[in-house]
Amino acid sequence: MRVIIEPDYEALSKWAANYVANRIIEANPTPEKPFVLGCPTGSSPLGLYRNLIDMYSAGKISFQNVITFNMDEYVKLPENHPESYHSFMWNNFFSHIDIKPENVHILNGNAPDLIAECNHYEEMIAEAGGVDLFMGGIGPDGHLAFNEPGSSLSSRTRIKTLTTDTIHANSRFFDNDLSLVPKQALTVGIGTVMDAKEVLLVCSGHNKARALKHCIDGDISHKWTSSMLQMHPHAIVVCDEAACDELTVGTYKYYLDKERGNL
Ligand code: GLP
Repeated sequence: MRVIIEPDYEALSKWAANYVANRIIEANPTPEKPFVLGCPTGSSPLGLYRNLIDMYSAGKISFQNVITFNMDEYVKLPENHPESYHSFMWNNFFSHIDIKPENVHILNGNAPDLIAECNHYEEMIAEAGGVDLFMGGIGPDGHLAFNEPGSSLSSRTRIKTLTTDTIHANSRFFDNDLSLVPKQALTVGIGTVMDAKEVLLVCSGHNKARALKHCIDGDISHKWTSSMLQMHPHAIVVCDEAACDELTVGTYKYYLDKERGNL
């Protein structure tokens, strides 16, 4: 695992966006061999998306031959609801770049058969040749996508019931009214993310310090599902100083020195 420690949110977002853009550019995607990008929602990736949009606007990158698969979507929230992950992705990223709408995949939380929807999603990922790079954030309880504490670490795309912690955390997007927050979501599994060729997580702020510690500095556990990344051959966590508040000094220094080339 690589851990990149940047001073603040702006710097970590820039680092992550540069990394993602370079991977896409190096892959030189074509319609026959597109680049498959996994996309998260939440506040954490907003800066990353903003930087990618800037690079697109500056003519440095195109998304014409990029296929996306989003991590998750609420169950039974209308697709055009301002807080649906469909709305989030179009408002914050897709509407500002040259991605082809038919190349965007987001789980349908209003599908008549949710289990069939999840199984079909896995099939579509497989047909696309698997995910080249899965981007992600980390929930305050260490969850990845909507793989809440206690999720199987080999799980695939499925329906998950959200924990009280997550319902509280996400109530900020629903007028702080817990009753308005959907209680279930469709989400890719930890196994789905682990199958990606590369995984890049962004993690910012003191309120994520405990999650980051468990993700990179603790044992692998289904109580902190992002900790499974420790088993991934190509995982990168990009964080800021504030998110490092709970790391051991040794871990913090090791990753800083390693990236500076002092080790
Ligand atoms: C939600 C999403 C996760 C995201 C998490 C943290 O639960 N399903 O994918 O990582 O929120 O969000 P934020 O970045 O806003 O803290």
